[in-house]
Amino acid sequence: MKVILFGATGMVGQGVLRECLLDPEVESVLSVGRTATGQRHARLHELVHKDLTDLSAISAQLSGYDACFFCLGVSSVGMTEQDYRRITYDLTLSVARTLAAQSPNMTFVYVSGTGTDSSERGRSMWARVKGETENALLGLPFQAAYMFRPGYIQPLHGVVPKTRWVRLVYAIVGPLYPVLKAIFPKDVTTTEQIGRAMLRVSRQGYPKRVLESRDINSL
Ligand SMILES: NC(=O)c1ccc[n+]([C@@H]2O[C@H](COP(=O)([O-])OP(=O)(O)OC[C@H]3O[C@@H](n4cnc5c(N)ncnc54)[C@H](OP(=O)(O)O)[C@@H]3O)[C@@H](O)[C@H]2O)c1
Repeated sequence: MKVILFGATGMVGQGVLRECLLDPEVESVLSVGRTATGQRHARLHELVHKDLTDLSAISAQLSGYDACFFCLGVSSVGMTEQDYRRITYDLTLSVARTLAAQSPNMTFVYVSGTGTDSSERGRSMWARVKGETENALLGLPFQAAYMFRPGYIQPLHGVVPKTRWVRLVYAIVGPLYPVLKAIFPKDVTTTEQIGRAMLRVSRQGYPKRVLESRDINSL
């Protein structure tokens, strides 16, 4: 399987990259991002491209892939709807449309989050924008598309959140993970489980297009 990964420098993406490189059935991983991962591996290739809303200069290099794991995203905290939408919806859809044209046999996996609003009409800004993004992605002509909606994610194996305030939150909450897992087993997952679930759903599919933490963990 040939995989394209977006967001490989982030918390979720680092975990997904690790699982891809550990999987002997993954022939190659192409990380596409504005920042290099700094990692070296025989099966890891990187395209550093500053403006991901315009992939025209590199689009020819995005054909022939079996899966895209789209882990790029931002927190809505402190952002206007317009700015949040520019990254969450506009950038994601721009990338996805290019990939659907270049690699139509691909399975596209998007990371949104628990509470995403498929109706696109709720009061929560981030949930509406993520819902609109999911709905638009599900309408693109990929072989298959899956929306992952994790709740709490425990970073494992040295994975660190990209954003400073998120790192602080995890420094406080992370040690409580065993307790969270015991109390809310269906609402928590790990970077390892997300990566492995993405690989499995790309190989064998899943009965649902929208997957909550319990689905991710069952995969
Ligand atoms: N963390 C959680 O607990 C959690 C829970 C549920 C859902 N999620 C969702 O999972 C996704 C990933 O979250 P995360 O925690 O891994 O985030 P993160 O650690 O902040 O990483 C964000 C990633 O997105 C990239 N990125 C952000 N804005 C970009 C832009 N304008 N252009 C290019 N690349 C950009 C970053 O690249 P650079 O290195 O270049 O900045 C980085 O690779 C998000 O959609 C988030 O909503 C996260």
